[in-house]
Amino acid sequence: MAKLKFIDSHAHLSDEAYDQDFEEVINRLYENNIIKVNLIGVDIPSLNVSLSMQEQHPNLFDVTVGLHPQDIAYYTQEDIDIIFDMFKDPRIICIGEIGLDYHWHPEEKERQKEMFIKQIELANEVQKPVMIHCREAIQDTYDILKEHRPQYGCVMHAFSGSVEMAREFIKIGCMISLGGPVTFKNAKTPKEVAIDIPLDYLLTETDSPYLTPTPYRGKRNESSYVKYVATEIAKLRGISVEALTEAVIQNYQRIFKTIKYNKEMNHEN
Ligand code: NI
Repeated sequence: MAKLKFIDSHAHLSDEAYDQDFEEVINRLYENNIIKVNLIGVDIPSLNVSLSMQEQHPNLFDVTVGLHPQDIAYYTQEDIDIIFDMFKDPRIICIGEIGLDYHWHPEEKERQKEMFIKQIELANEVQKPVMIHCREAIQDTYDILKEHRPQYGCVMHAFSGSVEMAREFIKIGCMISLGGPVTFKNAKTPKEVAIDIPLDYLLTETDSPYLTPTPYRGKRNESSYVKYVATEIAKLRGISVEALTEAVIQNYQRIFKTIKYNKEMNHEN
Protein backbone atom coordinates (compact mmCIF):
# COMPACT_ATOMS: atom_id res chain seq x y z
CA MET A 1 0.00 0.00 0.00
CA ALA A 2 1.19 3.48 -0.76
CA LYS A 3 2.23 5.54 2.22
CA LEU A 4 -0.20 8.26 3.16
CA LYS A 5 1.08 11.76 2.53
CA PHE A 6 -0.34 14.76 4.30
CA ILE A 7 -0.40 18.49 3.65
CA ASP A 8 -0.76 21.33 6.14
CA SER A 9 -1.92 24.32 4.10
CA HIS A 10 -1.61 26.82 6.99
CA ALA A 11 0.74 26.85 9.99
CA HIS A 12 2.74 29.28 12.09
CA LEU A 13 5.80 27.17 12.89
CA SER A 14 7.88 30.33 13.30
CA ASP A 15 5.95 30.93 16.53
CA GLU A 16 7.89 31.06 19.79
CA ALA A 17 5.77 28.11 20.95
CA TYR A 18 8.36 25.95 19.12
CA ASP A 19 11.49 27.59 20.46
CA GLN A 20 12.29 24.79 22.89
CA ASP A 21 11.86 21.73 20.67
CA PHE A 22 11.90 23.04 17.12
CA GLU A 23 14.09 20.22 15.73
CA GLU A 24 11.83 17.54 17.18
CA VAL A 25 8.78 19.21 15.68
CA ILE A 26 10.50 19.17 12.26
CA ASN A 27 11.55 15.54 12.70
CA ARG A 28 7.98 14.56 13.40
CA LEU A 29 6.95 16.13 10.06
CA TYR A 30 9.23 13.73 8.21
CA GLU A 31 8.30 10.75 10.42
CA ASN A 32 4.59 11.34 9.77
CA ASN A 33 4.90 11.89 6.00
CA ILE A 34 3.86 15.51 6.07
CA ILE A 35 5.06 16.40 2.58
CA LYS A 36 4.20 20.10 2.60
CA VAL A 37 3.61 22.81 5.18
CA ASN A 38 2.60 26.31 4.12
CA LEU A 39 4.19 28.67 6.66
CA ILE A 40 2.32 31.90 7.32
CA GLY A 41 4.29 35.05 8.11
CA VAL A 42 2.21 37.71 9.81
CA ASP A 43 5.01 40.23 10.40
CA ILE A 44 8.65 40.75 9.45
CA PRO A 45 10.21 38.55 12.19
CA SER A 46 7.86 35.60 11.48
CA LEU A 47 8.40 36.06 7.74
CA ASN A 48 12.18 35.96 8.13
CA VAL A 49 12.08 32.85 10.33
CA SER A 50 9.74 31.17 7.82
CA LEU A 51 12.04 32.00 4.90
CA SER A 52 15.07 30.59 6.68
CA MET A 53 13.11 27.40 7.49
CA GLN A 54 12.23 27.17 3.81
CA GLU A 55 15.86 27.58 2.85
CA GLN A 56 16.78 24.62 5.03
CA HIS A 57 13.86 22.43 3.89
CA PRO A 58 12.98 23.69 0.40
CA ASN A 59 10.67 20.83 -0.54
CA LEU A 60 8.87 20.70 2.78
CA PHE A 61 8.03 24.35 3.37
CA ASP A 62 6.22 27.01 1.37
CA VAL A 63 5.96 30.60 2.60
CA THR A 64 2.98 32.95 2.57
CA VAL A 65 2.90 36.51 3.88
CA GLY A 66 0.33 39.24 4.40
CA LEU A 67 -1.03 41.82 6.82
CA HIS A 68 -3.18 39.92 9.35
CA PRO A 69 -6.50 41.72 9.97
CA GLN A 70 -6.22 41.13 13.71
CA ASP A 71 -3.00 43.17 13.85
CA ILE A 72 -3.85 45.85 11.33
CA ALA A 73 -3.49 48.71 13.85
CA TYR A 74 -0.02 47.57 14.94
CA TYR A 75 1.81 47.62 11.62
CA THR A 76 3.97 50.68 11.02
CA GLN A 77 4.05 52.21 7.54
CA GLU A 78 7.56 50.81 7.23
CA ASP A 79 6.32 47.26 8.01
CA ILE A 80 3.57 47.65 5.45
CA ASP A 81 6.00 48.83 2.76
CA ILE A 82 8.39 45.95 3.43
CA ILE A 83 5.65 43.32 3.45
CA PHE A 84 3.99 44.63 0.29
CA ASP A 85 7.37 44.67 -1.41
CA MET A 86 7.87 41.01 -0.41
CA PHE A 87 4.72 40.03 -2.34
CA LYS A 88 6.84 40.12 -5.51
CA ASP A 89 9.50 37.83 -4.04
CA PRO A 90 9.55 34.49 -5.89
CA ARG A 91 9.88 32.60 -2.57
CA ILE A 92 6.44 33.86 -1.53
CA ILE A 93 3.74 31.59 -2.97
CA CYS A 94 0.62 33.24 -1.59
CA ILE A 95 -0.65 36.48 -0.02
CA GLY A 96 -2.12 35.90 3.43
CA GLU A 97 -3.44 35.71 5.84
CA ILE A 98 -5.58 38.65 4.82
CA GLY A 99 -9.23 39.34 5.51
CA LEU A 100 -11.48 40.60 8.28
CA ASP A 101 -11.57 39.96 12.04
CA TYR A 102 -14.40 41.71 13.88
CA HIS A 103 -13.92 39.65 17.04
CA TRP A 104 -10.90 41.52 18.36
CA HIS A 105 -11.10 44.85 16.61
CA PRO A 106 -14.62 45.75 15.48
CA GLU A 107 -13.65 49.44 15.68
CA GLU A 108 -11.21 48.99 12.80
CA LYS A 109 -13.67 47.61 10.27
CA GLU A 110 -13.07 50.26 7.65
CA ARG A 111 -9.28 50.10 7.90
CA GLN A 112 -9.41 46.28 7.74
CA LYS A 113 -11.60 46.37 4.64
CA GLU A 114 -9.31 48.89 2.96
CA MET A 115 -6.20 46.76 3.63
CA PHE A 116 -8.00 43.56 2.60
CA ILE A 117 -9.00 45.00 -0.79
CA LYS A 118 -5.55 46.53 -1.28
CA GLN A 119 -3.89 43.14 -0.70
CA ILE A 120 -6.24 41.31 -3.09
CA GLU A 121 -5.32 43.87 -5.75
CA LEU A 122 -1.60 43.43 -5.05
CA ALA A 123 -1.97 39.62 -5.18
CA ASN A 124 -3.61 39.95 -8.60
CA GLU A 125 -0.78 42.20 -9.76
CA VAL A 126 1.90 39.69 -8.72
CA GLN A 127 -0.29 36.82 -9.99
CA LYS A 128 -0.49 34.91 -6.71
CA PRO A 129 -3.37 33.33 -4.76
CA VAL A 130 -4.72 34.68 -1.47
CA MET A 131 -5.30 33.02 1.92
CA ILE A 132 -8.27 34.39 3.84
CA HIS A 133 -8.71 34.85 7.59
CA CYS A 134 -12.33 35.54 8.54
CA ARG A 135 -13.69 35.85 12.05
CA GLU A 136 -17.19 37.11 12.85
CA ALA A 137 -17.18 38.88 9.49
CA ILE A 138 -18.36 36.28 6.99
CA GLN A 139 -20.84 38.40 5.02
CA ASP A 140 -18.44 41.33 4.59
CA THR A 141 -15.64 38.92 3.64
CA TYR A 142 -17.85 37.31 1.01
CA ASP A 143 -19.02 40.65 -0.37
CA ILE A 144 -15.44 41.90 -0.76
CA LEU A 145 -14.24 38.69 -2.43
CA LYS A 146 -17.21 38.75 -4.79
CA GLU A 147 -16.56 42.33 -5.79
CA HIS A 148 -12.74 42.18 -5.81
CA ARG A 149 -12.12 38.72 -7.22
CA PRO A 150 -8.77 37.08 -6.53
CA GLN A 151 -7.64 36.03 -10.00
CA TYR A 152 -5.08 33.38 -9.07
CA GLY A 153 -6.95 31.36 -6.48
CA CYS A 154 -8.30 31.81 -2.99
CA VAL A 155 -8.28 29.68 0.16
CA MET A 156 -10.70 30.17 3.05
CA HIS A 157 -8.40 29.23 5.92
CA ALA A 158 -9.84 27.45 9.01
CA PHE A 159 -13.29 27.89 7.55
CA SER A 160 -15.86 28.10 10.35
CA GLY A 161 -19.00 29.12 8.48
CA SER A 162 -22.10 27.15 7.53
CA VAL A 163 -22.59 24.68 4.67
CA GLU A 164 -24.60 27.33 2.83
CA MET A 165 -21.80 29.88 3.10
CA ALA A 166 -19.17 27.29 2.10
CA ARG A 167 -21.18 26.68 -1.08
CA GLU A 168 -21.28 30.41 -1.81
CA PHE A 169 -17.50 30.76 -1.40
CA ILE A 170 -16.96 27.76 -3.67
CA LYS A 171 -19.20 29.34 -6.31
CA ILE A 172 -16.83 32.31 -6.47
CA GLY A 173 -13.84 29.98 -6.79
CA CYS A 174 -12.57 29.66 -3.22
CA MET A 175 -11.10 26.48 -1.77
CA ILE A 176 -12.13 25.56 1.77
CA SER A 177 -9.39 24.63 4.24
CA LEU A 178 -10.41 22.73 7.37
CA GLY A 179 -8.49 22.17 10.58
CA GLY A 180 -8.79 20.90 14.16
CA PRO A 181 -12.43 21.85 14.79
CA VAL A 182 -13.69 19.05 12.47
CA THR A 183 -12.31 16.57 15.02
CA PHE A 184 -14.16 18.07 18.00
CA LYS A 185 -16.91 15.83 19.26
CA ASN A 186 -19.68 18.44 19.30
CA ALA A 187 -18.59 20.45 16.26
CA LYS A 188 -21.75 19.91 14.23
CA THR A 189 -21.25 22.63 11.60
CA PRO A 190 -17.57 21.92 10.75
CA LYS A 191 -18.46 18.24 10.32
CA GLU A 192 -21.38 19.10 8.02
CA VAL A 193 -19.08 21.33 5.96
CA ALA A 194 -16.44 18.58 5.77
CA ILE A 195 -19.03 16.22 4.30
CA ASP A 196 -20.68 18.69 1.93
CA ILE A 197 -17.87 20.44 0.07
CA PRO A 198 -16.78 18.95 -3.26
CA LEU A 199 -13.57 16.96 -2.79
CA ASP A 200 -11.72 19.09 -5.33
CA TYR A 201 -12.24 22.24 -3.25
CA LEU A 202 -10.91 20.84 0.03
CA LEU A 203 -7.62 21.50 1.81
CA THR A 204 -6.36 20.36 5.24
CA GLU A 205 -4.51 22.49 7.76
CA THR A 206 -3.58 22.88 11.41
CA ASP A 207 -3.20 26.65 12.02
CA SER A 208 -0.47 25.54 14.46
CA PRO A 209 0.10 26.42 17.26
CA TYR A 210 -3.67 27.07 17.52
CA LEU A 211 -6.83 24.97 16.95
CA THR A 212 -5.31 21.66 18.14
CA PRO A 213 -7.30 18.62 16.97
CA THR A 214 -8.55 15.77 19.14
CA PRO A 215 -6.77 13.82 20.75
CA TYR A 216 -4.46 16.72 21.69
CA ARG A 217 -7.10 19.40 22.06
CA GLY A 218 -6.03 21.95 24.69
CA LYS A 219 -2.31 21.40 24.05
CA ARG A 220 0.00 23.11 21.56
CA ASN A 221 -0.75 22.18 17.97
CA GLU A 222 1.89 21.14 15.40
CA SER A 223 1.75 20.32 11.70
CA SER A 224 2.15 16.56 12.11
CA TYR A 225 -1.32 16.55 13.72
CA VAL A 226 -2.84 17.34 10.34
CA LYS A 227 -3.16 13.56 9.97
CA TYR A 228 -5.94 13.63 12.61
CA VAL A 229 -7.78 16.27 10.59
CA ALA A 230 -7.46 14.32 7.33
CA THR A 231 -8.43 11.02 8.98
CA GLU A 232 -11.56 12.54 10.52
CA ILE A 233 -12.67 14.18 7.25
CA ALA A 234 -12.19 10.87 5.39
CA LYS A 235 -14.21 9.05 8.05
CA LEU A 236 -17.01 11.62 7.90
CA ARG A 237 -17.16 11.35 4.10
CA GLY A 238 -16.96 7.55 4.13
CA ILE A 239 -13.87 7.43 1.91
CA SER A 240 -10.35 6.09 2.48
CA VAL A 241 -7.78 8.39 4.05
CA GLU A 242 -5.67 7.76 0.95
CA ALA A 243 -8.41 9.04 -1.38
CA LEU A 244 -8.80 12.12 0.80
CA THR A 245 -5.08 12.91 1.03
CA GLU A 246 -4.58 12.31 -2.71
CA ALA A 247 -7.33 14.83 -3.45
CA VAL A 248 -5.76 17.35 -1.06
CA ILE A 249 -2.39 16.92 -2.78
CA GLN A 250 -3.97 17.53 -6.19
CA ASN A 251 -5.84 20.59 -4.90
CA TYR A 252 -2.76 22.06 -3.26
CA GLN A 253 -0.80 21.49 -6.43
CA ARG A 254 -3.52 23.09 -8.55
CA ILE A 255 -3.46 26.33 -6.58
CA PHE A 256 0.17 26.58 -5.38
CA LYS A 257 2.09 24.39 -7.89
CA THR A 258 4.97 23.78 -5.46
CA ILE A 259 4.90 20.01 -5.04
CA LYS A 260 7.89 18.42 -6.70
CA TYR A 261 6.69 15.18 -8.17
CA ASN A 262 9.21 12.40 -8.29
CA LYS A 263 9.15 8.61 -8.31
CA GLU A 264 8.66 8.47 -4.57
CA MET A 265 5.63 10.73 -4.83
CA ASN A 266 3.82 8.46 -7.26
CA HIS A 267 1.64 5.55 -6.28
CA GLU A 268 4.22 2.99 -5.32
CA ASN A 269 3.06 -0.40 -4.08
NI1 NI B 1 -3.20 31.58 10.96
